[in-house]
Amino acid sequence: MSSIQLHGKTFDTYLSEAEIQQQVKRIAGELSRDYKEKRPLFIAILNGSFMFAADLFKHLTIDAEISFIKLASYKGMKSSGNVITAIGLEMDLFGRDVVIVEDIVDTGKTLHQFLPKLEHQQPKSMKIASLLHKPEALQYPLQIDYLGFSIPDKFVVGYGLDYDGLGRNYKDIYQLALGF
Ligand code: IMP
Repeated sequence: MSSIQLHGKTFDTYLSEAEIQQQVKRIAGELSRDYKEKRPLFIAILNGSFMFAADLFKHLTIDAEISFIKLASYKGMKSSGNVITAIGLEMDLFGRDVVIVEDIVDTGKTLHQFLPKLEHQQPKSMKIASLLHKPEALQYPLQIDYLGFSIPDKFVVGYGLDYDGLGRNYKDIYQLALGF
């Protein structure tokens, strides 16, 4: 097992690039099957989902669109409690089949607050694709329709996910080491 250091904390390898890519391809396959002829609109939540969204999108074999929205609800390792929309959505969702792309669903608060705003635009359907989910941390009712991995309630970085701005560039996912 290899480790990385970010802001003086140690993180150990948790999910390898190969394991991640295998799940990304599986999800892309399921989406390509479920959304055939529907020209879905993917909405990726920045910043954390940028790698997952890019890899997922590359493996789709159907016509699809993608747009990005930036929300912030996290500072350091604790949720700040506020969801702020920094970059708005320019696409019209009315009558569209929408797939939300998230890096990780932790407490579920971000999506719980954000989804009603999208539903207001009356999309035809709305599903959630998330690479990671921490079931033990979930505090808001939320159904994840396409999921890569269920993981324990421990802080992770890499593959787009950060710890105070660092760690997004790694191809593997790392977990905060015990005792740190
Ligand atoms: P939620 O609103 O609690 O579900 O948090 C969702 C957001 O918190 C994610 O999109 C991430 O940006 C961030 N987040 C939650 N857990 C982690 C983690 O373990 N590592 C890095 N970011 C995380």
